[in-house]
Amino acid sequence: MPQKLEQIYEGKAKKLFRTDDPNLVIHYFKDDATAFNALKKGTIVDKGIMNNTLSTVIFQYLEKRGVKTHFVKKLSDREMLSKKVQIIPVEVVVRNVLAGSLAKKLGREEGEQLKKPVVEFYYKDDALGDPMVNADHVLAFGWATKQELAAITKSALEVGKLLTAFFAKKGIRLVDFKLEFGRHKGKVLLADEFSPDTSRLWDMKSGEKMDKDRFRRDLGKVEESYSEVVRRVTGK
Ligand code: TMP
Ligand code: ASP
Repeated sequence: MPQKLEQIYEGKAKKLFRTDDPNLVIHYFKDDATAFNALKKGTIVDKGIMNNTLSTVIFQYLEKRGVKTHFVKKLSDREMLSKKVQIIPVEVVVRNVLAGSLAKKLGREEGEQLKKPVVEFYYKDDALGDPMVNADHVLAFGWATKQELAAITKSALEVGKLLTAFFAKKGIRLVDFKLEFGRHKGKVLLADEFSPDTSRLWDMKSGEKMDKDRFRRDLGKVEESYSEVVRRVTGK
């Protein structure tokens, strides 16, 4: 078992630790929640535990179906062992259903089923508020190569297909989600996390939001919604 060494980095929702194996790192999932580029801050009780559990189940599900991820092993309630990657500074959003910033931008109601999945890129830079960019920007600024961008887009769409079916079986509509990718030994891997912090999950029957929009929009029942997602996904 790799030894946990010093902290390398602290993000908004996770801390990253070095291990005695240079190829492996440990993610520690925190309860801290932020929104609107950290203008809004709070705590979601036990979120770290729930997001680690959900990310573990989802990464394992994806790996089994051919998606290459950084996931190695869940170590504890809040700790995940993963392959060390160099993060590609592009957030990849996939939308199945109109919601959030796209609904706002177009002045349309949330909930419209899109005729095809929409892939969007955002340049990862907190100081700039993660501006939206396109594929040409990604290549022109050298954030990823053409081959990497093709692999990322293909993987993001595949994740969308697989997880739409996965969540549908749990009575959950996968509205949209955000992915991050990283380089490991020359290969592009799905990295970061998949959780209600980084996706929109709506109850199929009631349409109720079961994700971080409950925190962003002060809708209440934040912890209850995350734990209901965990219950449905793990069957516990
Ligand atoms: P958006 O509609 O606000 O652009 O969000 C699209 C998806 O990306 C949604 O599932 C939430 C997720 N997301 C993040 O994971 N991090 C972010 O900083 C933002 C703005 C969105
Ligand atoms: N995590 C992001 C932040 O704090 C935003 C969000 O998820 O809405 O800025």
